[in-house]
Amino acid sequence: MALNETLHKLDTIAHSHGTVAVLGSMNADYTVTTPRLPGPGETVTGGPLTILPGGKSGNQAAAAALLGARVQMLGAVGSDSNAHFLLDKLQSAGVDTSAVLKTNGPSGTTVITVDAHGENTIVYSPGSNATVSPDYVAAHKRVIEQASALGLCLESPIEAVTAAARIAHAAGTRVLLNDSPFSATLPPELIKNSDILLVNEHETAQLLGIDEPEDDDWHALDWGRLQEKFHHFGFDEAIVTLGAHGSIVLDRTSEEPIVSIRPVSVDAVDTTGCGDAYMGTILAGLASHLTLVESARLASYVSAYAATGHGAQASYGTTSQIQALFV
Ligand SMILES: Nc1ncnc2c1ncn2[C@@H]1O[C@H](COP(=O)(O)OP(=O)(O)O)[C@@H](O)[C@H]1O
Ligand SMILES: [Mg+2]
Repeated sequence: MALNETLHKLDTIAHSHGTVAVLGSMNADYTVTTPRLPGPGETVTGGPLTILPGGKSGNQAAAAALLGARVQMLGAVGSDSNAHFLLDKLQSAGVDTSAVLKTNGPSGTTVITVDAHGENTIVYSPGSNATVSPDYVAAHKRVIEQASALGLCLESPIEAVTAAARIAHAAGTRVLLNDSPFSATLPPELIKNSDILLVNEHETAQLLGIDEPEDDDWHALDWGRLQEKFHHFGFDEAIVTLGAHGSIVLDRTSEEPIVSIRPVSVDAVDTTGCGDAYMGTILAGLASHLTLVESARLASYVSAYAATGHGAQASYGTTSQIQALFV
């Protein structure tokens, strides 16, 4: 069977070699599944430990590189064995890690427990991610200036994130900001120097001060009103992801300012890292001169593919793997 028009556009990314820079976090995710989550002072016995590559920025970089974009990772790993592990995994995905800083001490880590119902607890230990400074960003100014799109999230020191946005904006590099882990207050300079905001539905509700719909019917919300709220917050372009309900692209400057993107139906086994796969696709799409809506339609497939496997980066597909699943 032939590929549909959207899946065909994945080839555009693979062939255009657009350049993406991602500044931020890389973490080794330590996960144990237990029958129930331990209470304070309690020990429970869990299943085998899995150690998988994660960190929002590393995930976003891997997703974009697997689609064929040229991706430069900016961030820091430590002096432990996880440093090699994280860099190896990114390099296997095709990410250029030559500008990643190596510091003394542990790399970024998350310690995750998941119970039989899928409920979890997560402790994030930033480790080397916390050493990413405005000076490091300034030293890699050219990487940001030469990229078509820059991806940012909030797992790194906010001063460094803001410095990167400032350099990108001055150079005409499009800045995609993921307000996650969620912060209600962003530095005005970061908002001013970012072009597009990407948030999930829960982050959107907190950011804009709206109630979550009781029946989970996010599509029924008045998106025109929310678009005005994003505008007052400082963004004319925003993407809201809605989990299994798809996503919404808001672009106040476009002839079609509100576009609903259909989810792609899959047998989901683990949705960890779906948001990052989505964001990596938007970065790759923008760097390949696709529109925000075209990029979002692709992201719907790429992130749905990520829901069919366990882990974050470990569940991401290449262009041909993704096309093969949905043909
Ligand atoms: N169960 C699912 N089936 C198909 N697509 C999914 C599923 N869960 C997530 N996605 C896709 O991944 C995107 C991001 O997921 P979402 O849960 O909104 O992000 P986050 O991980 O940041 O919470 C969604 O917009 C959707 O396109
Ligand atoms: Mg979600």
